[in-house]
Amino acid sequence: MIKPDKHLFLCGSFRVSGEPQGVCYKKGALNMIQYIESELVERGMKDAAVSITGCLKACDRGPIMVIYPDNYWYGGVESEDVVDEILDALEEGREAEKYILK
Ligand code: FES
Repeated sequence: MIKPDKHLFLCGSFRVSGEPQGVCYKKGALNMIQYIESELVERGMKDAAVSITGCLKACDRGPIMVIYPDNYWYGGVESEDVVDEILDALEEGREAEKYILK
């Protein structure tokens, strides 16, 4: 088993029933997962993984993505451009300040 050094958690709005119903899902968060996966490969970020989660309880700022162990909480992750900026910053060892939830 490979344990990633960086783990990206993208909200998929899943509820207890297993149905995605929330804001992040409605704003297309699940469409981003394939792009993030392919970017991690393309950038050679072998020590990073991405997973879909249930509601992260910040719906009004969604789609939400959290990166551990850095504890970066991002909002508005709804386009490839935003993902690119966040991954650029991650590669540079910093947060993408523009999208950080405060
Ligand atoms: S549905 Fe994504 S934070 Fe609530």
